[in-house]
Amino acid sequence: MDPKQEIKRRRTFAIISHPDAGKTTLTEKLLLYGGAIHLAGTVKARKSSKHAVSDWMEIEKQRGISVTSSVLQFDYQGYRVNILDTPGHQDFSEDTYRTLMAADSAVMLIDAAKGVEPQTKKLFWVCHRRHLPIFTFVNKLDRYGRNPFDLMDELEKVLGIRAYPIDWPVGIDGHYKGVYNRLDKTVELFEEDGSHGAKKLKSTTGSLDDAAIKELLGAELYENLCNDIELLDMAGDDFSMEKVNAGELTPMFFGSAMTNFGVRSFLERFLELSPCPQSRLTREGDLIEPQEQNFSAFVFKIQANMNPAHRDRISFLRIVSGIFTKGMTVEHAASGKPVKLAQPQQFMAQERVSVEEAYPGDIIGVFDPGIFSIGDTLRESGQKFFFEDFPVFPPEIFAKVQPKDSLKRKQFEKGIIQLSQEGAIQVFKQKDLGVESYIVGVVGELQLEVLEYRLKAEYNTQLLSQRLPYTLARWVYGAEKIKELKGLDNGLLVYDKASRPVVLVNNQWALNWLTERNEGLQFEPVPTEAEKI
Ligand code: G4P
Repeated sequence: MDPKQEIKRRRTFAIISHPDAGKTTLTEKLLLYGGAIHLAGTVKARKSSKHAVSDWMEIEKQRGISVTSSVLQFDYQGYRVNILDTPGHQDFSEDTYRTLMAADSAVMLIDAAKGVEPQTKKLFWVCHRRHLPIFTFVNKLDRYGRNPFDLMDELEKVLGIRAYPIDWPVGIDGHYKGVYNRLDKTVELFEEDGSHGAKKLKSTTGSLDDAAIKELLGAELYENLCNDIELLDMAGDDFSMEKVNAGELTPMFFGSAMTNFGVRSFLERFLELSPCPQSRLTREGDLIEPQEQNFSAFVFKIQANMNPAHRDRISFLRIVSGIFTKGMTVEHAASGKPVKLAQPQQFMAQERVSVEEAYPGDIIGVFDPGIFSIGDTLRESGQKFFFEDFPVFPPEIFAKVQPKDSLKRKQFEKGIIQLSQEGAIQVFKQKDLGVESYIVGVVGELQLEVLEYRLKAEYNTQLLSQRLPYTLARWVYGAEKIKELKGLDNGLLVYDKASRPVVLVNNQWALNWLTERNEGLQFEPVPTEAEKI
């Protein structure tokens, strides 16, 4: 196959939203339209067993939230679509951040009644900083929501981004009948089919001047629509792909993931307009282009024990350049060692499909022999670059952990180390005690609960954990000063997995106190608030 064509037809994106905006439902409907599933679960069915096809782990089913991200692939009208699913819960924001590193664009999902919510805002900023093109889908149009013009306004006021509505809702709030497409100037009117969104929606499409469309709409709705269009054309922005690609303009769509209203139209326009796989920056500041012949990829997610019957660990790679072929050996840049990318798989719902060949933009899961960490670069031997580092979020919640049963220390340590390689937790050690003790740092409370759950379920170890009073972790420069660090009475000196010194304190004041008392002591800068989601 022609690699250029293969790159051109790929779309790799993530859906970002505040919990409950309908991300799981929209993902499912994209799969329905993509032919990857044939019948979507109805709202009722989903309520009784609240998990979608993208949920894997037992804990997700129990809690009904998407804890881990998954990757789903399907073909649609010649496109190869890779959807990166991101956890909605804010305690897993770091996982979301890493997933966005693997995306070339993002779909921002908004609940029509609620508008821009806190988590939408944070995730928007992450995308914006990475200059990812953002497409907006306003969901839940089957019920009363805010006025579409107000929502456009809110995007500009709250997020600072102008919107260009491509699809515009036709009808009255709560009873929309269809969408008007501003690019090809057609109206699509939907038929009620009584399937509650389980099947694709039937519709009639025609030009606005079409007598049949006019009649279907009725004089009043027709006039309202014409007025809206006139207003949008006069007062709104011109459509500019350049601005979209620079993340300055967001193409906007309206619909209902539940009833399938507007989903097909959104999917088709989105695939047409969104970018194909893009280059990635190296630590050295060079760009690796997808068209380059040499294979390169990075690890953005590690998932252990996805299938209890396998008990294995899978690393998810985003291919940046070159062609992946089954059985190939590449260089693991961090260790300089050759690794065979064994058991390569792609993911379709709960099925794993073996991969023979994959191209830039694709996500593949490979068997992880235990050497991969989040952010690792894989490249062909002889290459020298590393992809730019993933930002590490300083944890804000800390606990000292040990196995309840000391005979299970081995499993406990294995679990703690593997979960930290996965990026599920950060692990620190206290060196000065007789027995090495582990301190776990997390960004959100729920991560600690998941740690406890997973250690029990996957490593058969119960955890004793003692919460520590600290809320700030700062990596230290000037490590030679560390031995005689003064003023750390209310803090703790620990070491991360690369043995770098880190101080744990409970406020900024304590950090200032330390820098005042230790000449030359410096802390590594932390991601800014906007980056920190
Ligand atoms: P999330 O992944 O973003 O968290 O959202 P999810 O798809 O689980 O949807 C959250 C709720 O919103 C679900 O209600 C879902 O059916 C509903 N929903 C999604 N899209 C639409 C839509 O277009 N219109 C309407 N009216 N509802 C929609 P639920 O299953 O009843 O769960 P819950 O409300 O009991 O949590």
